[in-house]
Amino acid sequence: MPFSIDRVVPWGRNAAEYRAMFALDDTHRGGRILGCGDGPASFNAEMSAQGVTVVSVDPLYAVSAAAIERRVEETFDEVMDQMRRNPDEFVWTHMPSVEELGRRRMAAMHRFLADYPRGKAEGRYVEASLPELPFEDDEFDLALSSHLLFLYSDQFNLAFHIRALEEMLRVAAEVRVFPLLQIGGTPSLHVEGVVDAFGSRGADATVEPVQYEFQRGGNRMLRLRRHR
Ligand SMILES: C[S@@+](CC[C@H](N)C(=O)[O-])C[C@H]1O[C@@H](n2cnc3c(N)ncnc32)[C@H](O)[C@@H]1O
Repeated sequence: MPFSIDRVVPWGRNAAEYRAMFALDDTHRGGRILGCGDGPASFNAEMSAQGVTVVSVDPLYAVSAAAIERRVEETFDEVMDQMRRNPDEFVWTHMPSVEELGRRRMAAMHRFLADYPRGKAEGRYVEASLPELPFEDDEFDLALSSHLLFLYSDQFNLAFHIRALEEMLRVAAEVRVFPLLQIGGTPSLHVEGVVDAFGSRGADATVEPVQYEFQRGGNRMLRLRRHR
């Protein structure tokens, strides 16, 4: 199906959230990081400003900053309404309120939008869609998926997840995925299938706790590592 911005709900997290979701520390600063489905997150903008090499891929990068900004404005109230209607699905410890969530998400998206034209020209925002990546083997040290794989388990079946993760593991020695829950906050049924599939094909597949929980029960990431 061709990419249509009307089907995308632009909603982006910031670098502090990525660091917590993926347990990133200073050992990652010297490496090359690939973010798959980074959308309007400010991870790339913030990390690049600190001298860390980050490349983001997303079909959203087919369109202009103005089109993304329009879509953010069109969908913001609807997303905020959904959050207000389902507060029990979330943990409000680090995020004090729905209003603060909206403020932080908009700040991240504006940071992204300010960086997007330059980042696109520098090859840091690349239009591409899993399960295919336009990169050579081993171009990256670490590949991340935040709020794409497992979250949209209804739209993407197990075979898609395995193909996408194989592709990420082709271009990076290690892959991390967060969260392991699907929309609605229930555990993704694909996690077990993915762990079994990679365990039997020459990779370490582990589920690890992280210091981040916003979807209630969503405080674990999947880590895949190729055997050397
Ligand atoms: C919920 S957003 C998450 C954005 C960001 N990763 C974050 O956590 O803040 C999901 C993103 O996945 C992107 N996406 C959808 N299908 C994709 C695919 N097949 N390959 C890569 N990205 C995809 C969407 O365009 C959207 O930007």
